[in-house]
Amino acid sequence: MWLNTHSLISCCFAILFCMEELVASQNVFRLKDYSASGDYSRKGKVKRALHRRSYCGLRGCCPGRDDGCTVPYFARNATCYCDSFCSSDPVGSIDCCPDFWTVCHQQSPQPPTPENIRTPPSLQVGCFTDEQHHGEGAIFKDNCNSCKCVNSHWKCSSEICLVRPSLIKQINDGNYGWKAHNYSQFWGMNLKEGYNSRLGTFPPPAALLDMKPVTENIIAEDDFPEFFVAWHEWPGWIHDPLDQRNCAASWAFSTASVAADRIAIHSKGRFTDNLSPQHLISCDTRNQYGCKGGSITGAWSYLKKYGLVSHACYPLFWNNLHQTSCEMSSVFDAEGKRQAIQPCPNRWEPSNHIYQCGLPYRISSQDADIMKEIKENGPVQAVMQVYDDFFLYKSGIYKHIWSLEGKTQNRHQKKPHSIKIVGWGTLRDAEGQRQKFWIAANSWGNSWGENGYFRILRGQNECDIEKTVIASKCYL
Ligand SMILES: *[C@@H]1O[C@H](CO)[C@@H](O)[C@H](O)[C@H]1NC(C)=O
Ligand SMILES: *[C@@H]1O[C@H](CO)[C@@H](O)[C@H](O)[C@H]1NC(C)=O
Repeated sequence: MWLNTHSLISCCFAILFCMEELVASQNVFRLKDYSASGDYSRKGKVKRALHRRSYCGLRGCCPGRDDGCTVPYFARNATCYCDSFCSSDPVGSIDCCPDFWTVCHQQSPQPPTPENIRTPPSLQVGCFTDEQHHGEGAIFKDNCNSCKCVNSHWKCSSEICLVRPSLIKQINDGNYGWKAHNYSQFWGMNLKEGYNSRLGTFPPPAALLDMKPVTENIIAEDDFPEFFVAWHEWPGWIHDPLDQRNCAASWAFSTASVAADRIAIHSKGRFTDNLSPQHLISCDTRNQYGCKGGSITGAWSYLKKYGLVSHACYPLFWNNLHQTSCEMSSVFDAEGKRQAIQPCPNRWEPSNHIYQCGLPYRISSQDADIMKEIKENGPVQAVMQVYDDFFLYKSGIYKHIWSLEGKTQNRHQKKPHSIKIVGWGTLRDAEGQRQKFWIAANSWGNSWGENGYFRILRGQNECDIEKTVIASKCYL
């Protein structure tokens, strides 16, 4: 009787064990994993078999995905699952408890998708992003930072990014008078790269700031129209913004653009060519650094002495390089005017006509003086300070927001940039206050801001916009 009972129990164990072994092998159990010590006796087997019997059998099965539906799995020093989600794991994974298939309802394993790969915590090798697994040494780029998986942990750089979704959200959730946008062309750049590659005007030299400004404040501001924009006054003669891309040469873009508008206006539409910033970048190299920055006074001196060909003649990023070798040269003719002695770099453009302007003059920082100059002679150039939030500007009347992300390092860093002011206006803000603004052209392409233009607070020297205003007479 005793013997019978004994053999019956042994027999049951054996069947149980064989069954579980079968289940295990179906799910690619490796024998050495099964035996933690590597040295196992029959007794140990039986003990483990009993032990293994009591995972989902004791815990109970859970439908769907349930991260709490686990049992400690001592043999593997891990946790195993009894939820039906575990069976969607890859072959070889031990996500499911050994008795899952026998105890819980029969399910055929499904091929895993990247989202549902789940590895028990103690067996993780590599790193995770959300639900996705990355192997050791994997590199993961997160905006301007990159992370590397080292010893199952992400090691990340901690640069401040030029586009920060949190800053965009704060601006757009607030009532600051302007809206921000997530620009894909700035995504992935850090703040320093933004400052170093999208601006490029040297601070105005002392000589320029010492220049006595033209002040003719005879006309009161009220005598000017409420709204004025150069392209209404001179349709077809005002040149739209170009895109400097990652070439820090706003010094060349703003100068060429102001000169081109003024030539069109003063020639009464006889010459409406846009002028070539590339000509300045490549040829005005004395104390000028092309795509690494330059001075606007240097640019105007070059325009006076040597002049510029049209943008069509000497196109931007000619040869696809931010190169510096000059592909244009000129000599004085009998009347003391410059004549090109080289064909256009763009061989489809026949006219290598050279345009020249007079020396620049400075306009006072008074609203009325700047307005008078624009209305009578055309757009003016201004050097402004750029703060990080300016890069994100999409629409409205810009002013730097001082109150946001106060703790972020470098938050109020600024760098000079030059732009073209083309007009002004007035609007009532949300509180009914009269808001005066300038309308200006940037050089970040048409997709930035309001078709490449922006409005900025007028009359309060916002970002130094009224501090250094320059113009030139370009007679032809
Ligand atoms: C079990 O895992 C824990 C944590 O992962 C570890 O600290 C421990 O050394 C492991 N034990 C064995 C026997 O492998
Ligand atoms: C911003 O734009 C980038 C690239 O264009 C994109 O990958 C990212 O998800 C966007 N972020 C937000 C918050 O919209």
